[in-house]
This record gives sequence, C-alpha cells and structure tokens, in this order.
Amino acid sequence: MDKPILITGGAGYIGSHTVVALVQQGYYPVIADDFRNSYRKVLDGIKELIGFEPPVFEIDICDQKELELVFEKFDFKGIIHFAADKAVGESVQHPLKYYHNNIGGLVSLLSLAQKFKIENIVFSSSCTVYGEISSNREVKEEDTGGHLNSPYGVTKWIGEQILQDFQVANPEFKIINLRYFNPIGAHPSGLIGEYPIGRPNNLLPFITQTAIGKQDQLKVFGNDYPTPDGTCIRDYIHVCDLAEAHVHALHFIEGKTQGGSEAVNVGTGRGTSILEVIQLFEEISEKPLNWKFEERRPGDVASIYANAEKAKKLLNWEAHYTVKDAIEHAWKWEINLNNEN
Ligand code: NAD
Ligand code: WQD
Repeated sequence: MDKPILITGGAGYIGSHTVVALVQQGYYPVIADDFRNSYRKVLDGIKELIGFEPPVFEIDICDQKELELVFEKFDFKGIIHFAADKAVGESVQHPLKYYHNNIGGLVSLLSLAQKFKIENIVFSSSCTVYGEISSNREVKEEDTGGHLNSPYGVTKWIGEQILQDFQVANPEFKIINLRYFNPIGAHPSGLIGEYPIGRPNNLLPFITQTAIGKQDQLKVFGNDYPTPDGTCIRDYIHVCDLAEAHVHALHFIEGKTQGGSEAVNVGTGRGTSILEVIQLFEEISEKPLNWKFEERRPGDVASIYANAEKAKKLLNWEAHYTVKDAIEHAWKWEINLNNEN
C-alpha cells in the first residue's frame, strides 16, 4: 500500500465506502474530516472491513493551516474531495453556510494541492448541476445549462468551474468531476452505511426509517408527474458501485500523460419511480410500508437519469448492483443500526 490518497470527508456516507474500495486496490487512504455530518463509529466499521485503522485528521478543511499539516505528513498521490454540506433545502435557508464550506473548502484544498504539486484530483459533483431540465430524460455530460434551483447546486457548478480554471492555469493537473446521480444502499456486510443526522431528506433513508419506526409515515411528493405511474423517476446508484467509480477515476488519471479536466456521470443509466422503489422495499422487508401521497416538492424534476456511456468508455466503469440489491443492503444496515441503539 504505497499510494497515500487524501480523502476529505472520508468519514461520510460515500467517503467511507470509497475508503474501503481504495484499500482493496492497494491505495492507502488518509481521512480529513471534522465529523460535522458523520459519527466516529464509522471508523470501527471501516477498520473491520480493511483490517487496520486508516489515519484520521479531525480538521475543518477550510482551515488551510491545519490542512497543510496533513499535506506535510504524506507524499499524496492523489486527492478525492468529498467534504461539503449537501442538504438542498438547508442551502436555500442558509446559502452562506454552503458558499463558505463548499467553495471555501475547495479553494483551501486547491491552494495546497498546487503548493505540494498533488496533481490527481477527483471531485464530488452531482447531477444537480443539470438543474431544471426541460423534458424528462437521460442526461449527457454536455446537457448542463438548466436553471439551478438551490445554492447547494450552485456550489457544485461553481466548484466544477473553479477546477476547470485552476486546471487551465496549472496544465499538469488531471481532474475528474464525478457527477453522482442518487446514491443509495450500504456495504453488503452491513458494517458501514448512511448515518443521516436528523430527519432524512432523501427517499431511501426515509423509507427504511419509516419501516423501522423512527419516522411515522413516508410522504410521496406528487402523483401527477408525466411518468408512467405519476411519481418521479431517478437513477439510483448503489454506493459501492459509486465508490468503485472513484477507484476507476484515479486509475484513469494516473494513466494519463497529459493534464486535463473532465466531467463524468456516475449513474446506472436506468430510472426507477418512487412507487417502484416502495414496491421493491415491501418485497424485501416482507411488510407493508406506511406511506401516502403529498403535494409535489418544490424544485423536483419529473424524471432524470444518467447517460452512463462516458464512464464506461473513459473510466472502464459501469454499475453492477441492482436497485433491489441496494435497497436490500440499506435495509440490512438500518436493522443493524437499530440493534446497536
Ligand atoms: P456526507 O455528509 O455523509 O459526507 C461528507 C463528509 O464531509 C462528512 O463526514 C462531513 O463531516 C465532512 N465535512 C463536511 N465539511 C467539512 C469540512 N469543512 N471539513 C472537514 N470535513 C467536512 O455526504 P455524502 O453523501 O457522503 O456526500 C459526499 C460528497 O458527495 C459531497 O460533496 C456531496 O455534495 C456529494 N454528493 C452527494 C450525493 C448524495 O446524494 N449523497 C449526491 C451527489 C453528490
Ligand atoms: C428522490 C425522489 C422526491 C423524500 C437529491 C439532491 C441531488 C443529489 C441527490 C446531492 C424525489 C421523492 C423524497 C421523501 C419523496 N444530491 N421523495 N419523499 O431530490 O432526486 O436528489 O440527492 O448532490 O442534488 O437533490 O433525491 O432522495 O431527495 O428524492 O417522495 O420523503 O423521492 O420528491 O422525487 P433527489 P431525494
């Protein structure tokens, strides 16, 4: 394991699964996370899965001085930048929190990447950069330009622009913006998964928490969308497939002889409606879910899923797990969490 990789936000949902995937491919992950949206307990699960405790620096990455101490300790071969705030609704209420952390954190990190010449960078972007697409469809990487309906979405879009400008000024840098669609699920072992702090905003954690009794009832936002069953369609991607995409992205940029920056969709290329997700969940959990229809949620698009061709061609990556697998693993994780508490 001779390749130390800096993982900002490595204690979080996607970061923790990526730490495990990296170790399986011989990388040495070094985590920088201040646990503002994660629990130290995740480190126990990581340790059980990889057989050792990776170095963890409990710092705010916006604090460049603190972050520099981490850069001084390791000869990093790459950076995966997850650390950010991610709640769409909260970002509308507290936009400055999002600009401060998501933009400030990126600028702090890039200043040090430049100083220490760490030229391989993978950035957590999001399908949110497509904004309000005009029709229900598959999106390709060039389909940006839709109205961005939250400050969170703006931070991801500006983040990509900052990286692009930075790369032009530092042509030796090799940068990949991974645009995740809807990550769900947990590690099949049930040892790590998502720890939503407070009331979940995303669909699947709300479903599993309702089934386990932490929430009373799932509200399905809208039944009159122009989709076959009237509910919204999303591209749900298993978090372990998503974690693998980061390993493939690192391999890709390591093999490149020239600098550059690219945006790549990370999705399955298939859409699933909310009612289909509920049906799959009920089959897996073998019990009915308490849910009802509600008004549409402002800002939701009817249907969006990835064109995943670029990831296949460029990164040699494609999703392997099904939505059913992901729901099964999320349910196993929820049961484990409940047994611990
Ligand atoms: P998460 O909140 O579980 O993980 C983020 C981690 O970063 C947390 O552990 C948090 O404590 C840490 N963090 C945040 N700001 C920090 C700072 N200033 N200094 C140090 N640590 C900090 O979120 P996630 O779901 O794992 O998302 C990871 C990344 O992927 C984020 O950038 C998010 O915007 C992006 N993303 C997530 C989704 C999703 O649905 N989960 C979809 C698309 C993109
Ligand atoms: C999925 C569908 C809801 C909760 C979000 C971010 C996006 C990206 C991925 C970060 C929608 C419906 C949900 C509930 C419901 N994240 N729903 N009842 O909005 O597609 O994407 O996560 O970058 O930027 O916006 O995901 O899980 O919130 O919703 O009916 O209690 O489930 O309306 O149609 P979304 P989601």
